[in-house]
Amino acid sequence: MISISLTAGAQKFEDLAQTPPMGWNSWNTFETDINEQLVRNIADKFIELGLKDAGYEYIVLDDGWMSRERDSNGNLVADPKKFPNGIKAVVDYVHSKGLKFGLYNCAGGKTCAGYPGSRGHQYQDAKLYASWGVDFLKYDWCDTGNLNARESYITMRDALYEAGRPVLFSICEWGTYQPWEWAGDVGHMWRITGDIINCWDCEVGHGSWASFGIWKVIELRNKEKIRQAAGPGHWNDYDMMEVGNGMTNAEDRSHFAMWNILNSPLMMGNDLREVSKETLKTLTNKEVIAVNKDPLAIPAFRFNNENNVEIWAKPLKNEKWAITFVNRNDTPVDIDFDWRRHQLSDDLSQRSLQVENTTYQLRDLFLHEEVGDTSKNLQTSIGVHDVLMLKLTPKS
Ligand code: GLA
Repeated sequence: MISISLTAGAQKFEDLAQTPPMGWNSWNTFETDINEQLVRNIADKFIELGLKDAGYEYIVLDDGWMSRERDSNGNLVADPKKFPNGIKAVVDYVHSKGLKFGLYNCAGGKTCAGYPGSRGHQYQDAKLYASWGVDFLKYDWCDTGNLNARESYITMRDALYEAGRPVLFSICEWGTYQPWEWAGDVGHMWRITGDIINCWDCEVGHGSWASFGIWKVIELRNKEKIRQAAGPGHWNDYDMMEVGNGMTNAEDRSHFAMWNILNSPLMMGNDLREVSKETLKTLTNKEVIAVNKDPLAIPAFRFNNENNVEIWAKPLKNEKWAITFVNRNDTPVDIDFDWRRHQLSDDLSQRSLQVENTTYQLRDLFLHEEVGDTSKNLQTSIGVHDVLMLKLTPKS
């Protein structure tokens, strides 16, 4: 069958999200309890805490920024109590700091928290966002009935494009309709699971849906075809991070290491007004973030899980590699890893670690230290739920 595209010429904005987007989103900590002062404070913190310097760029208001009804012209209205000066005023403030601003809406009649969705108003809403200077749209999937996901997201993509202001389009249909198969030219990132929650490995039921801890999110979609779908301009979104939201520092490090090695967008989800030193150290670890931004853009694959120690590997440019060892045991674990006995190779990228004829220098990306090379066994111990993240560089 020949299919004719009715939207010929329409497209998403290219050149955005060439590396996984980085920023902050209000939902994980604040849910709908958001306001102008919060956005201003967060923007200030981006600068003060060195987050902008580490690469974080977008400040995104999730659900709850609107009034319950559209106005008489059908336009969305910011909640006048939360945003007394309107959205444009906060956008201008965020822009004045050299940062970018994002908003949330939904493909259905109502958003997940019951505010007006964009169904039937896509072009009108896109114009309004453009007039406010919005740079990012997270677009959810509640109250969509029988709508077709791909078509709905294409409609919003086209509306944004027509409005003319470059907007990073963040698809949030929870992986329900396999966005990794069709969203590459629709959006710049797409959620692959239901909502994350701040725990290591739990699943919390809420009746018709469930939220997932860190390892549930990772394992639910550990499929080669999902891995393959990622690349510059189109990323698998493992959801907003829970770093700083109550897990241990070790768990936060592992979570952060995995989001980076998997090429996920890095959207912080914690309260940046009250951030601990350890949390900040994790979130601003530039050596780890460099793995996420590596130009090869090949997400990690699970190499091995021996004795409940997860080993994930990601090829980097210039024949380098990043490797995480994550201890999922509830006790510390001793590692004695013989590089020569493990054939580490990746079918997708056709790359393998050449330990027989090459020695690789090892660098610990959390200690920021050289820690030996692959000519000897890696002997170390890893704390409970902690991570050892290494960069391997061939010695010349
Ligand atoms: C859905 C999304 C979340 C968040 C809420 C807001 O659950 O998956 O990330 O945006 O809606 O209501």
